[in-house]
Amino acid sequence: MGYDVHAVRARFPALAAGFAHFDGPGGSQVPDSVAAAVAATMTSPLANRGSVTAAERASDEIVLAARCAMADLLGADPRGVVFGRSMTALTFDLARTLAATWSPGDEVIVTRLDHDANIRPWCYAAQEAGATVRWAGFDPRTAELTVADVARELSSRTRVVAVTGASNLLGTRPPLPLIAAAAHERGALVVVDGVHLTAHAPVDVAALGADVYACSPYKFLGPHCGVLAAAPDLLESLEPAKLLPSPDTVPERFELGTLPYELLAGTTAAVDFLAGLDPDASGTRRQRLTASMAAVERYEDGLRRRIEEGLARLPGVTVHSRAAARTPTLLLSFPGRDPHDAYRFLAERGVNAPAGAFYALEASRRLGFGDRGALRVGLAPYVDDGDVDRLLAGLGEFLSGP
Ligand SMILES: Cc1ncc(COP(=O)(O)O)c(C=O)c1O
Repeated sequence: MGYDVHAVRARFPALAAGFAHFDGPGGSQVPDSVAAAVAATMTSPLANRGSVTAAERASDEIVLAARCAMADLLGADPRGVVFGRSMTALTFDLARTLAATWSPGDEVIVTRLDHDANIRPWCYAAQEAGATVRWAGFDPRTAELTVADVARELSSRTRVVAVTGASNLLGTRPPLPLIAAAAHERGALVVVDGVHLTAHAPVDVAALGADVYACSPYKFLGPHCGVLAAAPDLLESLEPAKLLPSPDTVPERFELGTLPYELLAGTTAAVDFLAGLDPDASGTRRQRLTASMAAVERYEDGLRRRIEEGLARLPGVTVHSRAAARTPTLLLSFPGRDPHDAYRFLAERGVNAPAGAFYALEASRRLGFGDRGALRVGLAPYVDDGDVDRLLAGLGEFLSGP
């Protein structure tokens, strides 16, 4: 049967508004089952996690189910799955916690390809600890971040290498297993920003070499919260600042305050939805997720190629997403034209493809786009050929205009 985009689209109530959504990398639309899971949690008896009342047990089950769902999605251990407000908040907390173990002269590596959420928390943490931040660059002509770019910054003092699984600006997928191997050889931890990658490809945190992997369900059809996955042993070895009466167990000791149970129920529903995207897949949820995310990857790559072919026929478009391995995310500029004009022009025609730097500020600056960025075309499982036609027609009209 294969990937059925019509059946997928039918599950997204927001698509009835008629917009073509190329804004998925900023946050995806949500299927009916995710919204229903959030609503069902909020209209059921609610209590904090516990074991005495039915409401307490329900919250507990929601948390444990969400840890298992995220573990299946990432190939992680559910006992090392931490939930939080956002990937940004989780990374700030982790950086502060790790920095408490650093000494002056220690080093942390960040990359100019990364979203600021995997850069600035490390800069603040390094400053507090008297550690040094070392910057790995990338080649703006090829959009590649190579293992050599990172390896040349490594030393025996490197404590953390913070690197993206995929750039939310360019789509570039750095060679994580090689980068991780080089980092591990020096005894450094590898902290991967998986926010953009998780939405577009099967993920196996161990195969990637990630000691810590952070992502955000609202980028993969779920609600607005953040997730961090690490080996339980690593989390056991860390002592985050926490309230005295809150649990000291792992992963709870990393979860500040009361968890958003309704969003965790929605996260599980999103993972279950993803697992069903390949209707031919069978086996465990992990196996169905791996097959389904591979199906999403193939489907989105097909759309991406159609867009690239269409763009090649338009005069005055430069595509900056050129890495050999990448997600279907295209960064476009229009020499002599303001990408923000294209953004507004398309929006008036019901095509959502925003312009900006999307918090990948260092990358945007390195590409020569400063803080204003360029136009980003992103894909999601519900984007179809009709959407692509509208995008290409809109851009064609924009480029032939004054
Ligand atoms: C690659 C990447 N990393 C990190 C983030 C930040 O995620 P959150 O909004 O959960 O803090 C984003 C959000 O756009 C992103 O695209």
